[in-house]
This record gives sequence, C-alpha cells and structure tokens, in this order.
Amino acid sequence: MQKTSDLIWQDTQHQVLFELIDQIKVVPFDPDILLRLKFYAEHHFALEETYMVKLGYPDKDEHIEAHDRFREELAAMLDTDPTMGTFLQDSLSDFLYKWLKLHVLGIDKQLEDFVMESDSK
Ligand SMILES: [Fe+2]
Ligand SMILES: [Fe+2]
Repeated sequence: MQKTSDLIWQDTQHQVLFELIDQIKVVPFDPDILLRLKFYAEHHFALEETYMVKLGYPDKDEHIEAHDRFREELAAMLDTDPTMGTFLQDSLSDFLYKWLKLHVLGIDKQLEDFVMESDSK
C-alpha cells in the first residue's frame, strides 16, 4: 500500500494491517490470521482513539463508530468456518482491504491533519 500518513506510527500500523489482510488469501488458510488481525486492529484503533480523546478531536464519535463497525465485522469473521475455501478467503480479504483503504484515505486523513497541527505529533 502507498504511504497513508505523515504520522510515522499511523502509517506503519496501517501497513501492518494491510499485510495481515493480504495474508487472509494465503493457501492453506491459517485461522490464526484473523485473530492476529483483530489484536493488531484493536491496538491501532485504541491508539488513534487515545489521540482523539487527549486532543479533544471534534469528530471523535463518528470515527470511533467507524472503528466499532470494523471491530464487529472482524468478530463475525472469527466465527467463520476455519476450513473456508479460497473464494471465501479472497472475498473476506478484499472486503477488509477496501474498507481499510477507504478509512485510511478518508476519515483517518482528517485525524492525521488534526494531530499534525497539534503539539502531540
Ligand atoms: Fe487508522
Ligand atoms: Fe481510524
């Protein structure tokens, strides 16, 4: 994935998330990958949300709701049959990839700008 942010921590974590989402496509499917993605996404979302709270970010609620929807999608996927085939692997991976790309190039860029203008970058 192209660079997503001038905040090094934010871009680095986005790159890891994209890599994990890519790994969902690997055959044979490793069920642990969804768990690793869930933990890493939680780590990343929690850090963004900490910045939002500490800096009094005005669009905090909307952004956290978007994170919550991703959390719910991932939780539902963790209930998926671990023997799923390549078609389902590809579908899940593509869905998450598109969601994350829209998120990091949209709502996350607004947060990035806000953090860059603060003293906390
Ligand atoms: Fe992000
Ligand atoms: Fe975000």
